[in-house]
Formats: sequence, structure tokens, C-alpha cells
Amino acid sequence: MMNIDISSLEAAINGKTEIEALAILADTFPGKVVFSSSLGYEDQVITDFILKNKLDIEIFSLDTGRLFNETYMTLQKTNNRYDAKLKVYYPQTDSVEALMSTKGPLSFYESVENRKECCYIRKVEPLNRALKDAKIWITGIRAEQSGNRHDMPQLEWDEAHQLVKFHPIMRWTFEEVKNYVKSNGIPYNPLHDKGFVSIGCAPCTRAIQEGEDFRAGRWWWEDESKKECGLHAK
Ligand code: ADX
Ligand code: SF4
Repeated sequence: MMNIDISSLEAAINGKTEIEALAILADTFPGKVVFSSSLGYEDQVITDFILKNKLDIEIFSLDTGRLFNETYMTLQKTNNRYDAKLKVYYPQTDSVEALMSTKGPLSFYESVENRKECCYIRKVEPLNRALKDAKIWITGIRAEQSGNRHDMPQLEWDEAHQLVKFHPIMRWTFEEVKNYVKSNGIPYNPLHDKGFVSIGCAPCTRAIQEGEDFRAGRWWWEDESKKECGLHAK
């Protein structure tokens, strides 16, 4: 059951800048606003909004245990730059041990079912813990990223997590994101300079070619229609 009035939130942030909107949400729900960062370009913009303005929003990252070393370097550089410590969630040891011991280290390549099982253990379950007490969940999702993100509203009720999701840079173009990061000297994942756009786990992410979709490098061996990991599932 929805216990937050989305239309009054919409009215409160209407016409505000991204930073003002984040500040309004943080003031309205003290201690209950969280931001999930994968440390990609988009998320670095939002991290900059939050840390530069000292907004009361917890930033967390899901460490799947399979991230690129470049992603960990970006996490460290971000902590250094803002004198911050991003909160990190890790999967349950028992689940990872059982998965690796029964299905091996590369089960996700074998079937969509196996891939979703790995994403559940390494991302979705930790995400559920991260969101447990939150009322607002901020993400770096952009409309351009995929067909099913195109029509997403900026504020939406998330039935699965019983909270409101807010995507502050939903309408930004990739160019705008890149320019903001570069012109503000924000640390970013060096893989972005090697053709990587959307960056997830190392075994499940590759660089994309000119003209390919933003998310073509994620789970590239699967059908287009199956390519969501469950973090943003409906
Ligand atoms: S995913 O669903 O395919 O994994 P994507 O990489 O497009 O997501 O990122 C969309 C948003 O999901 C990011 O802006 C971020 O808010 C969140 N997200 C994705 N991966 C992580 C992660 N490892 N840790 C925290 N948040 C993440
Ligand atoms: Fe596992 Fe790949 Fe999903 Fe990462 S993206 S959790 S390695 S299946």
C-alpha cells in the first residue's frame, strides 16, 4: 500500500534544480533517503550533488564481489576526493559459497535462470537490506539507457520495496553527464575511456562499439528482452 503522496512530492520539486529537489526530499524524510551508486558516470554526478552540498542522503554501493578493479579504484578515489566513506553492501557469505561450490564460478553464462540467480544473490538480496528502512531511493537511471527506461517517470512508487524512487538526472543526455563529470574534475571509472558505457560486474560487462545501444555491453550473450538484473524490476 502506498503511504507517500507522489503528486504532492511532484509539486514540491517541480521546477527545482536537481540539487534543490534532492535537498527537499532529504529535508522531508530525514535519515530515510538513500542513493545507490554503481560508481558509473551518472552516479558520480549524483554523488557530487550530494557530497558537495552535504545533503542528508546515504550513498551506498553494492559490491557483488565480481566488480572490475577499476570500479574499486573509483570508489577509493571518490572517498578520497570528498573525504567520505561510501557504505558498501556485500552478499551473504553462505549464499555465495553455495553458488560457487554447486554451480562453479561462471554459471551465469549457462542460462538466464542461472544468471538471475547470481544477480539475486550478489545484488538483489543486498539491495533489499540497503533499502530496508528507506522511504526514498535515488538512482542514476536515464531515459536514454534502454527502451523500458524511456517512459519511466522521474518519481515513481516502487511496490516491491515499498518506497518512492527518484531519478534526478533522468532527462540528461550522455553528453551532458560526461561534460559535468569532466568539467568538475569528478573521479570516474577509467573504463569509460575504453568504450565501456554501462558498467556492472566484470564477467558480465564488455565495451560497446560506436552505434550500439548504451546497455549492449551488459549480459551481451542474452536476448535484449531479458537484460535487467532485478535491481529495477517491476
Ligand atoms: S542495472 O540494473 O543494469 O544493474 P545500471 O547499471 O543500469 O543498473 O544502473 C542503474 C542504477 O542502478 C544506477 O544508477 C544505480 O543507482 C543502481 N546500481 C546499479 N548497479 C549498482 C551497484 N553495484 N551498486 C549500487 N547501485 C547500483
Ligand atoms: Fe553475477 Fe553477472 Fe549478475 Fe554480477 S552481473 S551478479 S556476476 S550474473
